[in-house]
Amino acid sequence: MILSEKNINSSPHLPFGDQRTAPWYGKSILSVKQFSKQDLKYIFEVAHEMREMVERVGTFDLLKGKILANLFYEPSTRTASSFTAAMERLGGSVIPINEVKYSSVAKGESLPDTVRSLECYSDVIVLRHPEVGASALAAQYARKPIINAGDGIGEHPTQALLDLFTIIEEKGQVDGLTVTLLGDLKYGRTVHSLSRLLSLYNIRLNFISPEILTMPREIIGELDQKGIPSQELRMLEEIIPETDVLYVTRVQKERFEDTKEYEKVKGTYIITPETLSVAKKDMIVMHPLPRVGEISMDLDVDPRAAYFRQMEYGMYVRMALLAMVLGKA
Ligand code: CP
Repeated sequence: MILSEKNINSSPHLPFGDQRTAPWYGKSILSVKQFSKQDLKYIFEVAHEMREMVERVGTFDLLKGKILANLFYEPSTRTASSFTAAMERLGGSVIPINEVKYSSVAKGESLPDTVRSLECYSDVIVLRHPEVGASALAAQYARKPIINAGDGIGEHPTQALLDLFTIIEEKGQVDGLTVTLLGDLKYGRTVHSLSRLLSLYNIRLNFISPEILTMPREIIGELDQKGIPSQELRMLEEIIPETDVLYVTRVQKERFEDTKEYEKVKGTYIITPETLSVAKKDMIVMHPLPRVGEISMDLDVDPRAAYFRQMEYGMYVRMALLAMVLGKA
């Protein structure tokens, strides 16, 4: 047991081990490529215990006195607010910079200078940025841990971790599952990160997208190298009866240079109750959200619709990650 009500309440300093020997203490989280299967097992154990602790006591002082800087150059509802909630549930506090145009970024301050400024006031920085590699660049300059909260069309590692945690909490295991990823597989950073994490398990992957939004060749190549069976398709109907997890993504208008191209593909797939009529009774439907029409709201009452539960799992995973990089797990 890593956390318990007894040790949470027994000491104001919450001695969960020596932070100097905690393996993730002080480390940045930039890519899912950093994680082994053993690491994932550990993260999900801590996240599961965070879930139990929140359900039992709500808020506890594991990170009392610690400060998180939430630095978002792109819009966010879930990632920004779940990191805030995670930090506050653990007794810490947050500097929110969710609108960089009101910060000195608007005066032309560089990313390296911005993170070097924020780390003077905080213990960890969560960064979302429109450019691939921005978090890695920030980490080169920062002394404090940087957590990548999405770098352009690159990666969104904490989303992939929460996605995998959702699958484990909902389905009990990952091995043996057929996972179908659908929608914008070209620009969708969540599906890039998730595919890489899933490739650590014994799974089967289906990629369904319009012709112009297929999964990048680099990721298909990585999967092939690892011997992960995968196929690329245009239609969902033929594959849905064998699917255990259907992961739907939004076609991201903001990533298209030509809006006409977006208009051509935006409504290609719409998941409705009828779509699920031939699906397994225990299949789950996931979506990183926000959705813009690709899942009908009529589906929300179906117990297989896991996307709102998925958001909640995200807070527990982010609690675990914050505790780890701050040396408390
Ligand atoms: N899933 C996700 O990253 O959502 P936000 O863009 O709202 O943070």
